[in-house]
Amino acid sequence: MTPEPVEQRRVVVLISGSGSNLAALIEAQSHDRLGGEIVAVISNEPAAFGLKRAHEAGIEAVALPHREYESREAYDGALIKVIERHEPDLIVLAGFMRILTPRFVQRFMGRMLNIHPSLLPAYQGLHTHARALADGVDVHGCSVHFVTEELDGGPVVLQAECRVEQGDSEERLKEKVHAREHLIYPIAVQWFLEGRLKYAAERATMDGHPLPAHGMRLSHDDAEAELGDESDEADQ
Ligand code: GRF
Repeated sequence: MTPEPVEQRRVVVLISGSGSNLAALIEAQSHDRLGGEIVAVISNEPAAFGLKRAHEAGIEAVALPHREYESREAYDGALIKVIERHEPDLIVLAGFMRILTPRFVQRFMGRMLNIHPSLLPAYQGLHTHARALADGVDVHGCSVHFVTEELDGGPVVLQAECRVEQGDSEERLKEKVHAREHLIYPIAVQWFLEGRLKYAAERATMDGHPLPAHGMRLSHDDAEAELGDESDEADQ
């Protein structure tokens, strides 16, 4: 008797640009380390390189240009429809450079993750690396968090630290943080799809226990050890 096929958990990824985080998620999926399947990638920028990455990986790649809609509400309404057609268990924002309407956030509350290039709550918003350098911080990094109506303000799930070294340029720091993003995002997605990570009562929980405010955190040294000497393929 052939066993019943196991229903895959479904992921929709939203992007606006290069999609190097998307590439890391695709890579994890190809090694059965994602806990589910990316069923569609949607970009508000038709020229986003990430759409090409999706297409090459055999994933449905959808361009939904925001410029064709007269308001943010109209665009988000259309986006909800496209997303729902794919019946996702999880929506993953991977460099989706749009402010989301409350209606959109409410629709997917508790099943939408974002990655942000700072150790939240530090440096919400844009230009995080330049701001960290200007402040002369010793430690910077990235965070995966649940999306709520507060921009970059939802409960943090997982962070990776990155030491800021003497002479680091904005570009160098961005590279180091990006490598960490590619490390932690697939892990957080897998936790969610396996049912270990949940959003409940405005908090993130892991295996039924509330996570601390900064989520779980990978130290600089642990991140370096994980990254090893391998070049960061997803960044290419
Ligand atoms: C990343 O730095 C991510 O933290 C931020 O947008 C950037 C997306 O990069 N939200 P990529 O398109 O995945 O390369």
